[in-house]
Amino acid sequence: MIPPLCLDPPKGARVLDMCAAPGGKTFMLLEAVRHEGLVIANDLDRERLTRLVKAARNLVPHGMASALELRIGDGRKFHLQNPDTTPENTPPTEPSDPPPSWHIPSKHQGKPPPLRFPSTRTIHQPFTHILLDTPCTGTGTISLREPTTYKHWSSPTSLQYLQKLTRTQKSLLQTGLSLLAPSGTLVYSTCAISVEENEQVVSDVLEEFGEGKVEIVDVGAPERGKAFGSGVGSYGGRRFVEGMERCLRVFPDGEYEGFFVCKLRKVG
Ligand SMILES: C[S@@+](CC[C@H](N)C(=O)[O-])C[C@H]1O[C@@H](n2cnc3c(N)ncnc32)[C@H](O)[C@@H]1O
Repeated sequence: MIPPLCLDPPKGARVLDMCAAPGGKTFMLLEAVRHEGLVIANDLDRERLTRLVKAARNLVPHGMASALELRIGDGRKFHLQNPDTTPENTPPTEPSDPPPSWHIPSKHQGKPPPLRFPSTRTIHQPFTHILLDTPCTGTGTISLREPTTYKHWSSPTSLQYLQKLTRTQKSLLQTGLSLLAPSGTLVYSTCAISVEENEQVVSDVLEEFGEGKVEIVDVGAPERGKAFGSGVGSYGGRRFVEGMERCLRVFPDGEYEGFFVCKLRKVG
């Protein structure tokens, strides 16, 4: 659960959790922003989002749920519109959407109807904090003792899968950065250890944004032994943008699953 700790939104922050389900990290973000803030939890997958709602029902203290809004859909489709014309904290809802609601209809009323989640993609105010815990190959979770963790890997389909994922990761990161307020923070994380899904994605997107527009800041993870490393500055003959040593790569070592965390700040 390092990514939300690393994002560290203060009370009252306006947070987007772009790929939130089933929601372990969302609840930490909610805890951080308290009642005064807003956490929009988005995911593409209805079944996983429903799991988030079920967990929210048990885990989110009464009252704090008012800070949680749900969205279903592709995180790449969010867009910021007329940022200065809408009053504080009033993201408009499209008329066709049901009102934002995360509670599950009570079972006492018979079989609960399927949950309907708002799908609004238009945002009128930028976010101060964004968590992009992106879909990935999950190479950090492979365990030779658990064949289910690698049975989907085969060549060449895995290479195509990796290429498709990196395109999605880049596009999600571009969108995330476009929704971020000046001086806002975005944490990009994967449970993959491959450079292609981590440093390469970050470097490609920051290069497109242009020098000096977004900086990599120190993840600030405590030193925890040899499983903890930093990002790599070059790979396959390519030099990445400055600052990869400030990222965190944890190698799977029996105690930890592998993952990667990069903290970005929009300059300005
Ligand atoms: C690594 S999991 C997120 C785990 C989650 N942050 C947590 O802590 O429970 C990645 C999620 O991304 C979702 N996803 C995949 N493609 C997406 C997209 N284009 N937009 C939004 N969510 C997407 C998947 O459904 C999956 O739930």
